[in-house]
Amino acid sequence: MTTNVPASAAIFNNFIDGAWVSSRSGQLFENRSPADNRQVVGVFQQSTADDATAAIEAAARAFETWRLVPAPKRAEILFRAAQLIVERKEPFARDMTREMGKVLEETRGDVQEAIDMTYFMAGEGRRQYGQTVPSELRDKFAMSVRQPLGVTAMITPWNFPMAIPSWKIAPALVCGNTVVFKPSTLTPLSAVNFVKVLEEAGVPAGVVNLVTGGPDVGTVLATHDQVKVVSFTGSTAVGRTVNQHAAPGFKKVHLEMGGKNVVLIMDDAQLELAVEGCLWGGFGTTGQRCTAASRVVVHEKVYETFLREFTARASALRVGDGLDEQSQVGPSVSEAQLQTVMSYVEIGKQEGARLMTGGRRLTSGAHAHGWFHEPTIFADVDPQMRIAQEEIFGPVVSVMRCRSLDEAIAIGNGVAYGLSASIYTRDVNTAFTAMRDLYTGIFYVNAPTIGAEVHLPFGGTKATGNGHREAGTAALDVFSEWKSIYVDFSGRLQRAQIDTE
Ligand code: UN1
Repeated sequence: MTTNVPASAAIFNNFIDGAWVSSRSGQLFENRSPADNRQVVGVFQQSTADDATAAIEAAARAFETWRLVPAPKRAEILFRAAQLIVERKEPFARDMTREMGKVLEETRGDVQEAIDMTYFMAGEGRRQYGQTVPSELRDKFAMSVRQPLGVTAMITPWNFPMAIPSWKIAPALVCGNTVVFKPSTLTPLSAVNFVKVLEEAGVPAGVVNLVTGGPDVGTVLATHDQVKVVSFTGSTAVGRTVNQHAAPGFKKVHLEMGGKNVVLIMDDAQLELAVEGCLWGGFGTTGQRCTAASRVVVHEKVYETFLREFTARASALRVGDGLDEQSQVGPSVSEAQLQTVMSYVEIGKQEGARLMTGGRRLTSGAHAHGWFHEPTIFADVDPQMRIAQEEIFGPVVSVMRCRSLDEAIAIGNGVAYGLSASIYTRDVNTAFTAMRDLYTGIFYVNAPTIGAEVHLPFGGTKATGNGHREAGTAALDVFSEWKSIYVDFSGRLQRAQIDTE
């Protein structure tokens, strides 16, 4: 936090009740590029509880009219928003790379995911199907409809700074809720870009509010009486706190948390394909995806061959500034994240895993001012080692050996998390067995653990989630609730379960 702002840096405000306003605290924070920490990307509001409360109150007022706007009309605004993001895809991707580091190709993908989700949810404006069923009584009509809940709070991470907010905000809006949005302090610029688009597309004042800042803001969002849904994506530790804060008020809480995703490689796999998948799954987004392929379990018959090729290819990855089209792997998002990566490299060495490549921070030349780390592979990892159990969220992959499909599945399931898993095999029986037995929310065959599309449910089991899913029509279940309606047109009292004749 600082009030000592470089004269040249642009200052960005909160968006509350349709106006861009500064925090009542008068405090600001800087957002710096992880590829070159001398560069200030922007200066943002260090908001307090007061700002969050003002945003919630604005959202509560706006709900009274927004809930009555017909869903197809709400959707028209989302269609316009999606179109505006299409037009601004390139500058939005560049802003995103500057503020969180992933390579341009990937930030373009992130913006594309926001476009896809916004279009998808706009389509849902004409498709919020309920049920109509026969009544057990004559001259009585029975149906169910979705209704919005009110003020929804979104607490979002830095690794998908436009995609993940869109996964939450677009369905919330199309269902008729209003929104208070708190992005990660590492990616407020992408949040501003997204909210400006919604404003320009015609979202009325108070319907979407943006409050930048730290845990003070998050605590208010998770505890305030007027907030009815909290949708959180981030670490399992913070998710647990959000859940505890929200519990006394019986808020609906959607949590999308950690992962320790596994790729299984069987002895009949197309090895070259598996190597490519593991490179993309393990080191894409610098390993900073909740879906990252941070564990690879390889059949002993192909273990050494796979490892040799995987190591050679990982060593050749070009690490650099994401704005440089030559770079394949960007920096860690922050110094703290880099420290986590480095500490797990030490842990892996101490645990006795075989370091195949990487293991060091990059500090010279073009890397001198950023949070860069070599893509790192540990082999001969025991499934119980911490590097095989704990989410690292960095460019570190743990490779393990297995003797059979059963053993591979047991290792795959043997972690606290359950987001994504995948198998490489050419045998349909093997693929279907793994598909059935890996207890995760997402499963891939002959592809890595990353790459979910917006129209299917996204989320995981165990410590990854709390039973909800975002994306697809499953997201509508988070942001609406059912109302069952009975219309009696008999003109007399008809008693259910009693007037059975
Ligand atoms: C995340 O890692 O938090 O499936 C989201 C994927 C992306 C989304 C990742 N479409 O990897």
